[in-house]
Amino acid sequence: MRHSLKSVLSLLSSLLGLIITVVVIRTLTYSVRTDDVTPCAKRDEDFVQATDAVVERFRQALRIRTVAASPHVYEREELQKLTSFIKSAYPNIHSSPFISCEDVANYSLLYTVFGENTSLTPYMITGHLDVVPADSSLWDHPPFGAEIHDGFIYARGTIDDKHIVMGVLEALEHLLSQGFRPQRSFYIGFGHDEEVTGLDGARSISNLLWYRGIRKLEFLIDEGLTILNNVIPGIDGPVALIGTAEKGYLTLKLNVKWDTGHSSMPTKETSIGIMANAVSKLTTDCHPSMFGQGPELDTFQHLAAHMKWPYRMVMSNLWLFRPIISWVLSKKPSTNAIVRTVTSVTMISGGVKVNVLPPEATAYVNHRLHPAQSVQEAIEFDRQLIGDDRVQISVESSMEPLPMSPYGDYDFGFQTVKSSIRQVWTEAAVAPGVLIGNTDTIHYTRFTHNIYRFSPTFMFPDDIPRFHGNNERLSVHNYEQAINFYKHLIQNADAVSLPTYHKHGEEL
Ligand SMILES: *[C@@H]1O[C@H](CO)[C@@H](O)[C@H](O)[C@H]1NC(C)=O
Ligand SMILES: *[C@@H]1O[C@H](CO)[C@@H](O)[C@H](O)[C@H]1NC(C)=O
Repeated sequence: MRHSLKSVLSLLSSLLGLIITVVVIRTLTYSVRTDDVTPCAKRDEDFVQATDAVVERFRQALRIRTVAASPHVYEREELQKLTSFIKSAYPNIHSSPFISCEDVANYSLLYTVFGENTSLTPYMITGHLDVVPADSSLWDHPPFGAEIHDGFIYARGTIDDKHIVMGVLEALEHLLSQGFRPQRSFYIGFGHDEEVTGLDGARSISNLLWYRGIRKLEFLIDEGLTILNNVIPGIDGPVALIGTAEKGYLTLKLNVKWDTGHSSMPTKETSIGIMANAVSKLTTDCHPSMFGQGPELDTFQHLAAHMKWPYRMVMSNLWLFRPIISWVLSKKPSTNAIVRTVTSVTMISGGVKVNVLPPEATAYVNHRLHPAQSVQEAIEFDRQLIGDDRVQISVESSMEPLPMSPYGDYDFGFQTVKSSIRQVWTEAAVAPGVLIGNTDTIHYTRFTHNIYRFSPTFMFPDDIPRFHGNNERLSVHNYEQAINFYKHLIQNADAVSLPTYHKHGEEL
């Protein structure tokens, strides 16, 4: 007896020793691809300055009220004004012999920039011309005034996302003025109703490309996650997140039909009781954590090298600490939404009269699907959890999570976006992330799964409510950075392949 206890203990202690060794080694050596990049500097010949003219063009675009209210309902005249303004504001682009500009569905814009090397697969940059409504009584400055206060331009659309539209165009206009002629072709698509589904704008652009025989894009970059400051614990500097996944959506209708009759002689069960039993099982957290099956675990792994102790040790060793992190993330609604399919029972009804057994009870369940779970899997999970065939389950509406975009060390699109970010925000740690909302990208998945959602917006925690909220703003300095980000992106995406890379971390 004693002998075997001793050997168990000694086995345990050598296991512990091994675990500690692995933890230490991984903490010291864990790394992801981070190429040396040439920082973007003001003294560079090709640095795009935010001159008065540049800023004025942005402000003019912001003053045009391209509000979208609901699907197919948007300010057509204003959109027309914006596209006309764009065409007059960028003479190099609109007179270039190798760029075509087309109106699509009247108000959207599609640019085709023809590269010289037709054997390279084109890529695409997208953004949108419409904005959400703004209630001027709640703003400190008029939402369509584009006034500048303390270095910030205040206007609806500054960060969602006319800075992308105008930033891309400024960058391209500038590159053309320097004699730039791309090797790789690319498309620029600006939809006009992204805020209200993109069914008219982005979908028409996508259909037009498809009709022309385009079947493949190297990658696509759209609006998305941003650069966050002081948001992620353990990191002092800025963190740029590139959205590589979007959650899906599923609304189920539950229905129970059961014997009715007088309540003076009730049956053992009622439709309401059966429904109540089912609904009580559908708690927020009833679906298990899928932490690690989407990019959310890699968000932390990518950031590990930038973290302070002890965060760094924990994040470099998620193979060991994963259950704990998953548990911590599950505690807060905002982070819980990242690690699992979340569940809310949002509506319920049943019964007809106080003294009549209810013939029927109905409830609606709204899920936001983790990127690694399909609609069918979620339905099956609910069915088994409820475990009662008397509860009829039907789908009210659904959207599969979009395909997860690759973000490995050798993935051209991801690494190109990442390097371009690091050239402009040299201090930023870059990582993949999950976008909780949705954008126009759903209309482009048939061309590529290499979809990256990133907005060149530098945000502090108190800036987050400005998004779709009041006092939306962007600093002039940030706008200048956005332009230079797209300038570098267009230059970097022009390479035939990624620079060769020698991975250091794992040699120890
Ligand atoms: C585009 O304009 C034409 C002509 O005015 C109109 O018939 C059509 O419905 C418009 N399309 C959209 C998507 O608004
Ligand atoms: C064109 O692109 C191909 C890769 O698809 C590359 O092998 C070739 O060298 C390029 N041609 C030129 C002239 O750069």
